[in-house]
Amino acid sequence: MISVEELDEKYIINTYGRQKERNLFLVRGEGVYVWDEQGRRYLDFVGGLAVNLLGHCYPAVVDAVCKQVAELSHVSNLYYTRPQAELARILVENSAADQVFFANSGAEANEAAFKLARKYHHPGRYKIITAGKSFHGRTLATVTATGQDKYQRGFAPLPEGFLYAQFNNLASFEKLVDGETAAIMIEPVQGEGGVYVAEGDFIRGLRELCDRTGVLLIFDEVQCGMGRTGRLWAYEHWGVQPDIFTVAKGLGGGLPIGVMLARSEVAGAFAPGDHASTFGGNPVVCRAALAVLQTILEKPFLDEVVQRSALFMNGLQRLAKSSAGEIKEIRGLGMMAALELREPQAVRAQRECQEKGLLVNAIGEHTLRFLPPLVSSEAELEQALKILEAVLGGLEEGQ
Ligand SMILES: Cc1ncc(COP(=O)(O)O)c(C=O)c1O
Repeated sequence: MISVEELDEKYIINTYGRQKERNLFLVRGEGVYVWDEQGRRYLDFVGGLAVNLLGHCYPAVVDAVCKQVAELSHVSNLYYTRPQAELARILVENSAADQVFFANSGAEANEAAFKLARKYHHPGRYKIITAGKSFHGRTLATVTATGQDKYQRGFAPLPEGFLYAQFNNLASFEKLVDGETAAIMIEPVQGEGGVYVAEGDFIRGLRELCDRTGVLLIFDEVQCGMGRTGRLWAYEHWGVQPDIFTVAKGLGGGLPIGVMLARSEVAGAFAPGDHASTFGGNPVVCRAALAVLQTILEKPFLDEVVQRSALFMNGLQRLAKSSAGEIKEIRGLGMMAALELREPQAVRAQRECQEKGLLVNAIGEHTLRFLPPLVSSEAELEQALKILEAVLGGLEEGQ
């Protein structure tokens, strides 16, 4: 029988750079573990790139999806459904927003945010300022908003009106704001760019700048939201509220979802016909998301995430201290962490972790990113640290 690797190579457009020899073929997941087709088990700290907040096949999510798919799996947004309405309510009751728009991915949620910001200011203001090293998606507008050249190469001409300032540098944003600026968008914790956490003065300064100039402040919480940092929304760490924010990834418990949330005054700029999505707010996905949110919001779930993530971050700091200088920096917040190596060894370290049963993600040649499920136990976090210690020790010897 033709192998999955051969089918992939022949029939799937090569955008993910999968390597036949080294790639995993995963067949099952449970809790923080996934299994390959040979029955090998891996501790999954890639977590679907911040999707598997509750690990794999979380029973309450499985139950919600099975029930809903058998009851009503899809209807058009011409009609009402209860899971959609209930999810909107729970999101609003637990955030700075008053109303939501449902989409299917992070990029789509961000597209909705750009359209809403422009519509709110229409006619007149249209510019959107984002940060260097940011990541906002792969559609033409979101890849343009993404402040990294490598994602934009080959796609010119890009949509107009996007400008880039520097993350954690308030003056660089101030310099770019003018009478045509509609919005500033940042990730409170940059994910794909290498896990960079916003400084308090910076993010509070952005809020003041926006208040002073009438610019909308948008937070992209697609990766750092949903309890990932130990608070439901990352912006809660700084006591700063956005006008619009976007979430996706982990909210659907493994099913695709994206949501754009806004204050009512801003949300009111959209009228019927201004925006839409065929699958946005699908009842099965919304029912899954309700199960995820109910789990995360139940006390003491997030308190425990804070405790266990401190254990993991302390463990990483310990590794950095005991290494012979190979580790340049540890960054992160909650269950979102990065380890930056001095030498370009991240891809090798990722491979060696995998060989020892731990999945981590190399960002470029120098950085390892960790996105453990929020349900990771102390023992599982310790196990990952042990594997990392062995791998990083081996890198030192191998140099
Ligand atoms: C902060 C952020 N925004 C947007 C996106 C795009 O999300 P999606 O891949 O669901 O379109 C990502 C994906 O990694 C992200 O990390």
